[in-house]
Amino acid sequence: MSIYRSKIAGIGYYVPANVYTNNDLTRFMDTSDEWIRERTGIRERRFADRLGETTTTMAIEAAKIAIERADTTAEAIDFIVFATLSPDYYFPGCGVLLQREMGMREIGALDIRNQCSGFVYALSVADQFIRTGMYKNVLVVGSEKHSFAMDFETRSRNISVIFGDGAGAVVLQPTEEAGKGILSTHLHSDGAEAESLAMYYPGAHANKWLPNKPGFPDQELGGLFLTTEHLEHGEALPFMDGPAVFKKAIVKFPEVVREALTANDLTTDDIDLLVPHQANLRISQYVQQTLGLRDDQVFNNIQKYGNTTAASVPIALCEAWEAGKIAEDDLVCLAAFGSGFTWGSALIRW
Ligand code: ACO
Repeated sequence: MSIYRSKIAGIGYYVPANVYTNNDLTRFMDTSDEWIRERTGIRERRFADRLGETTTTMAIEAAKIAIERADTTAEAIDFIVFATLSPDYYFPGCGVLLQREMGMREIGALDIRNQCSGFVYALSVADQFIRTGMYKNVLVVGSEKHSFAMDFETRSRNISVIFGDGAGAVVLQPTEEAGKGILSTHLHSDGAEAESLAMYYPGAHANKWLPNKPGFPDQELGGLFLTTEHLEHGEALPFMDGPAVFKKAIVKFPEVVREALTANDLTTDDIDLLVPHQANLRISQYVQQTLGLRDDQVFNNIQKYGNTTAASVPIALCEAWEAGKIAEDDLVCLAAFGSGFTWGSALIRW
């Protein structure tokens, strides 16, 4: 059996039309443009049309562009890998909705739940299927409609000023060009701090890991999914221990970039473009400094879109490519870190 490498044959992104500047957010909560820009670098973000757009519909817009640029069709796609933490339904995942709405064949559809590192995980999974020769045209998507589950009140301002909506997609195909395509991917996890960036409810945990949270009704069966008490206490909302995330991210981002370089006998000097998950501009700057990279070696667009979690890497990669910042033969490194914690990298010879 031949082993192929996979290449990104087409890439696209979609962001909703509704722009919310930092000043716009001050209409809903006690915050300021200055606070948000200083801590995160974010100036504005996009929010999906509240009732008209979903995680799946945004993914479809991005996918259409990626498929067209790959010079293929929706009917020719032979596998879907869909990364999101904000799925249209608790189950089934968005992959099947995309399959249905794009009129694809009865191909496999896999949903990936790895939050900010979701796209890098999805890319790695897709890459394995191409390498073994099982599939030849894999659609990989990252899409988020964070705005549906965010709390636009002062109590949640440390979270709701950071996140934005959007989608990015790539089509992976095999390549026989020597030395080209995805060189390697590297995936990691450490659940020790799983609760420091999480949405606890609804869930099946029954407070096993969260003994101090509001309890559940005293009954023989059921009643564990989500109680009115959890809703009233704002417990069915995302939680983030910002400083804990920051501390871990600034260690794991550089580590996983170095791991990818070492695995391919390369150094930081060889990187033409690092596209980090757009968590926070301060994290990206810290990572850049730690790795000793020049400004032109790192791409950031969090200023315009906020943190779009699973969509951030493909949106940034696509914008960088459209802006002519990625040329043939360039060495591109993708890196992500997020809730779980999970993190990963992918090294690509374009
Ligand atoms: N506007 C104004 N004030 C705010 C806001 C806001 N939006 N949010 C929090 N504050 C206040 C807090 O109430 C607090 O006030 P207090 O001192 O009177 O109690 C003060 O600012 C500091 O709050 P912290 O939560 O400690 O804020 P911190 O300085 O840690 O900054 C931040 C928060 C930017 C999230 C920071 O912790 C950080 O960068 N963490 C990294 C996590 C991150 O970037 N996550 C992104 C998503 S996760 C991922 O993609 C991996």
